[in-house]
Amino acid sequence: MAWVLRQFERDDLDSVMEINRTCLPENYPDSFFLGLYYHAPKAFLVAVADSRVIGYIMCRIERGVSSYGRLPVKKGHIVSVAVVPEIRRQGVGSDLVKAAMNSMSTYGAAECFLEVRKSNEAAISTYETLAFEIKRVLKGYYRDGEDAYLMTRKLEPQPGAEAIVEEGY
Ligand SMILES: CC(C)(COP(=O)(O)OP(=O)(O)OC[C@H]1O[C@@H](n2cnc3c(N)ncnc32)[C@H](O)[C@@H]1OP(=O)(O)O)[C@@H](O)C(=O)NCCC(=O)NCCS
Repeated sequence: MAWVLRQFERDDLDSVMEINRTCLPENYPDSFFLGLYYHAPKAFLVAVADSRVIGYIMCRIERGVSSYGRLPVKKGHIVSVAVVPEIRRQGVGSDLVKAAMNSMSTYGAAECFLEVRKSNEAAISTYETLAFEIKRVLKGYYRDGEDAYLMTRKLEPQPGAEAIVEEGY
């Protein structure tokens, strides 16, 4: 299976929302997806094969205390990522995460993080192959009461990183 990664476009919205609904219990209104797109367009990516969207990743750039010290830093938050079930284990998910990490660092993020259900072995394995580490357990993080792992990773610094509109996030 051959695929390409490209930035999300508004016409991808229905496909992305459908993949999100099919693959994850955490679903959102269209305004949430579009808000992330306007916020950090280079870090909202889709994977496309035969003109079909087969996966997506969307991220937010935030300021907060570093997971690797006590200083404030810009951090990339992987908000949601998913690949259609029939095309998993072929490298699409890790390609999306790698490309999003690169984009987040162009926005000036020094590190990135995500939350993942403790039971989501596929996702945890994917992140571990990309050098994410489990930083801590977020007790009862999900609506159904399941705990999350907070997983983090440092990013490669990018000279001349772009500014980003952060209001509203
Ligand atoms: C997580 C997800 C995006 C991974 O996508 P993917 O395209 O299957 O991932 P990759 O093919 O890039 O996998 C990379 C590596 O991660 C590990 N991995 C991925 N899925 C795995 C699984 N089901 N079991 C064990 N290891 C797994 C493997 O080491 C794999 O490499 P390999 O296939 O060469 O052994 C996909 O499983 C998915 O969409 N899950 C549902 C949505 C979801 O849970 N999103 C994450 C929310 S935090």
